[in-house]
Amino acid sequence: MMYNKARNKQTDGQHDRQRGRLITFEGIDGSGKTTQIAHLSDSLGTAGIHVITLREPGGTAISEAVRDILLDLKHTGMFQETELLLFAAARAQLVREVFLPSLAKGHWIICDRYYDSTMAYQGYGRGLDLQAIRAINALATDQCRPDMTLLLDLPAELAAERMSQRSTAADRIDQENRDFMRRVRTGYLAIAAEEPERIIRMDAGQAEEALAQQIHRQIWEGFGI
Ligand SMILES: Nc1ncnc2c1ncn2[C@@H]1O[C@H](COP(=O)(O)OP(=O)(O)OP(=O)(O)O)[C@@H](O)[C@H]1O
Ligand SMILES: [Mg+2]
Repeated sequence: MMYNKARNKQTDGQHDRQRGRLITFEGIDGSGKTTQIAHLSDSLGTAGIHVITLREPGGTAISEAVRDILLDLKHTGMFQETELLLFAAARAQLVREVFLPSLAKGHWIICDRYYDSTMAYQGYGRGLDLQAIRAINALATDQCRPDMTLLLDLPAELAAERMSQRSTAADRIDQENRDFMRRVRTGYLAIAAEEPERIIRMDAGQAEEALAQQIHRQIWEGFGI
């Protein structure tokens, strides 16, 4: 565990332990997040780093139960505001039950989506008030921000093409139209422009292995591994 060993030397004898790192993956449906998280999780594990991978919404029993409500195809009558608050509810639980205690122990977390997804989907995609979403996100996350966010950027058409080759059944949110995904993508790019130090845009149109190598480089350079 090269990185933590070096850090632990500095903090030996001190009470505050080295905080872990929170890395999030963002991007429209089918952009390759789950695929790339598997690669990164493997390579961090090989480097001896204790890494936890999670997905949003989910990651705790309560959050997974909320996820089931959100993705249930029967719930066609769900209002946009209900959806926003359910995502926030799942997140509030995840941050307090898993993120904060794990980071305090020095563990690294890779999370498949986090609060940027809410800004992109509910804000830019559905048109809910961005300021209201910022306030709800702040409450849900207790100001726990990612150390690095990798935005897998891909045109909606290409993502849809990839997804049509995927065998898993479509869920309620997968059925949203192409225009919606275009707005979400535009939203992600706007969010990334606001926080260029945290959010790194990756070209997700490239081959899986090439993208995995680029992400590896970003993480190793960014965190001095
Ligand atoms: N670089 C790539 N080139 C071509 N196909 C890819 C690439 N990366 C992933 N895929 C394929 O595209 C599909 C979507 O990838 P993946 O499930 O990782 O995306 P995702 O961002 O996690 O999607 P979702 O938001 O729906 O969970 C999968 O079938 C995957 O095998
Ligand atoms: Mg996925």
